[in-house]
Amino acid sequence: CGIVGYIGNTDAKEILLKGLEKLEYRGYDSAGIAVVTESGVQVFKEKGRIADLRSVVDETVLAHTGIGHTRWATHGVPSHNNAHPHQSTSGRLTLVHNGVIENYLGLKREYLEDVTFVSDTDTEIIVQLIEKFVNDGLEVEAAFRKTLMLLKGSYALALLDNQNEDVIFVAKNKSPLLVGVGSDFNVVASDAMAMIQVTDQYLEIMDKEMVFVSKEKVTIKNLEGEEILRAPYTAEIDASDIEKGTYPHYMLKEIDEQPLVIRKIVQAYQNEEGKLTIDYNISEAVSEADRVYIVACGTSYHAGLIGKQFIEKMAKIPVEVHVASEFVYNMPILSEKPLFIFISQSGETADSRAVLVAIKELGYKSLTITNVQGSTLSREADFTMLLHAGPEIAVASTKAYTAQIAVLGILANVVAEFREQQVDFDLVKELGIIATVMEALCDSKEQFEEIAREYLAVTRNCFFIGRSLDYYVGLEGALKLKEISYIQAEGFAGGELKHGTIALIEEGTPIIALSTQNEVNLSIRGNVKEVVARGANPCIITMKGLEEEDDRFVIPEVHELLSPLVSVIPLQLIAYYAALQRECDVDKPRNLAKSVTVE
Ligand code: G6P
Repeated sequence: CGIVGYIGNTDAKEILLKGLEKLEYRGYDSAGIAVVTESGVQVFKEKGRIADLRSVVDETVLAHTGIGHTRWATHGVPSHNNAHPHQSTSGRLTLVHNGVIENYLGLKREYLEDVTFVSDTDTEIIVQLIEKFVNDGLEVEAAFRKTLMLLKGSYALALLDNQNEDVIFVAKNKSPLLVGVGSDFNVVASDAMAMIQVTDQYLEIMDKEMVFVSKEKVTIKNLEGEEILRAPYTAEIDASDIEKGTYPHYMLKEIDEQPLVIRKIVQAYQNEEGKLTIDYNISEAVSEADRVYIVACGTSYHAGLIGKQFIEKMAKIPVEVHVASEFVYNMPILSEKPLFIFISQSGETADSRAVLVAIKELGYKSLTITNVQGSTLSREADFTMLLHAGPEIAVASTKAYTAQIAVLGILANVVAEFREQQVDFDLVKELGIIATVMEALCDSKEQFEEIAREYLAVTRNCFFIGRSLDYYVGLEGALKLKEISYIQAEGFAGGELKHGTIALIEEGTPIIALSTQNEVNLSIRGNVKEVVARGANPCIITMKGLEEEDDRFVIPEVHELLSPLVSVIPLQLIAYYAALQRECDVDKPRNLAKSVTVE
């Protein structure tokens, strides 16, 4: 979910709506705003997208203070009633919330037996609880503080009191929230991107702090009520990077940006002599580890699988890759000197953060690889390596995935050198070739559009197979396809399909097979034959030098170890065109959110 707030002298509703549009990637089930008008706080909310919300906002309303929210449902279905903002019974208090309150049922039983609730959300408990303490005689600030002390779980909150239009009450725990500072206004946002149009100065808010945001000043306090002084930082986001330009979708723009991103990454990690370099302390920490644990979710997890191969093959350190949501509650026996690498485009994923908190408590070191400087995972880890991919807006990740792989390659390469391990290729040169091949692939769009039409126009399912690195890329190809086209897609190790899933193969079932690895080229082709014998419709994507007559697409040659950087592009484009042909919402697929800040 995403939160915005504004307090100043200009039309609040327009700033809030524009901010929410920028935050839509965090969820788009329903949205709402609340603004302080002469006749009290007015709430507008609607199921659906920000565009739907816009259509119900009264354009004549004049307000200089307000809060807003875009939702990704956790408690309660997407509906008008469950959309934020939520109000207390008297209508005095209005709240937006991101996160999950774990003890909301207990709080409801203990304090709010007599209250009638209008939504199924945990958020409504918070606003009713604050009102209860106000009714008991506390000032709003004290009631807010008392409530925060009772909440268990994650939250980012912004609260309006219609008897005091000079302040927005703000607090956070585990969920991201920033306060932006302007000259005669201040703003609140889950992400600086939402408000970058109005200010680039932001104050970090730490867990269990409360903030009182007025037009002229921002006061931060801890839950003991002591004031905390903190200087703002400059958010380095180029407002034009978050526009679509002439592209029909952000996803296509971001696919096309990949060659540029690879070049930017090489530049960013090169020293004056052109040699790849990273922070000495990172090289040292990784080199000293007896085992590296990569922890991530979704696409970032898939990048981690490739990263393992890089670190093991180049730096010769054993690596385990884990899905964050499993790791935290089911921790494996750790080695004696582990080093944790968190991979996260957004740097905000709650599942990954839960692991970071747990391993920090155990005293272990961590490195975050992220696209967002200043994000929670970056701030809280010992070290950060940035992706330099520019903002990724489409929910389905593309350029962040290849950027993660490139940065993991650079890390593995530099650590290999640090450990005096022989690497028999020049990574800078190879990444240059990669960027050029990526361009060639992005120029072959019609061919991928054609493959999508031929194989995926009517199918219910699709399997991706590959061996070794191609298997991991197949997992990502399947994820892209299911995320945006809703075709049931699964990635399999070429040798594994026959151990069960082959039962699903019917006449015409599409199989997309990757074959870019010399060592397993013949065996994956054998696996293709097995499914073809059972009626499957194969689409083989191979690499120059390994091609055979019926192959559907031949990728120009790149270094074999780095092939995932290029072999994923056909799969991204095939998924894109399949989704388009099936008239799906490419940039905002159903049920998903780009950044999931709840566990
Ligand atoms: C969400 C997104 C995925 C993404 C995953 C991890 O589920 O829908 O596309 O891969 O989160 O996100 P992160 O920001 O941690 O890379």
